Amino acid sequence: MNEPEFNHDLAEGRPPLRLGILLSGRGSNFLAIADSIRTGRLPGVEIALVISNVADAPGLTAAKDLGLPAALYVSKGRPRAEHDADVLGCLKEHHVDLICLAGYMRLLSPGLVAAFPNRIVNIHPSLLPAFPGLEAQEQAFAYGVKIAGCTVHFVDDELDHGAIILQRAISVLESDDAHSLAERILHEEHIAYTEALRMVASGQYEIRGRRYVKRNQGR
Ligand code: GRF
Repeated sequence: MNEPEFNHDLAEGRPPLRLGILLSGRGSNFLAIADSIRTGRLPGVEIALVISNVADAPGLTAAKDLGLPAALYVSKGRPRAEHDADVLGCLKEHHVDLICLAGYMRLLSPGLVAAFPNRIVNIHPSLLPAFPGLEAQEQAFAYGVKIAGCTVHFVDDELDHGAIILQRAISVLESDDAHSLAERILHEEHIAYTEALRMVASGQYEIRGRRYVKRNQGR
């Protein structure tokens, strides 16, 4: 059984949990997290750093516009381990506690995963273990599922695989197409990521095997 390694509940006078956001694109999940922090729905958490691996990622511009520390490490054409070593250095420099993948379209190197054991969180737009990988919403729609959704999970060495923190499900409607389904899943993602980060930031959990288990607070 792995004990959680942090409890950053501000109510207990602990320092805020410092997030390092990794993104590659539009950054709507990042912005949802930033908004939750700004509006007090995610207490005890702050964004220490936003990193993009894509130069023209709108999420990177949005981070700069918000006045957040933001860095670009272009990954295209670079060996994974070398690129991730630079990313890791930057995360450490900014004293990041927890990495949040928010539309980061690049596999992490084993070295980076090992440097943040159960301290990397990802959001995936399907109910894992169904439809890992790219275009999960389209995969689910084409498969004909009646229930779809999203998953927030810890990251391990396998793609879209680590212990699940939270899932949110929606019904697939007769009127849906792949696009409308993806839109409705994205709405759930924005809710799910904040909720999952609140759960992680509480520190009140254990990871038993693959299972995220809330700790009995009365113990
Ligand atoms: C989301 O659907 C997320 O689940 C997936 O990539 C997409 C990123 O969207 N991993 P955004 O950049 O957060 O808007």
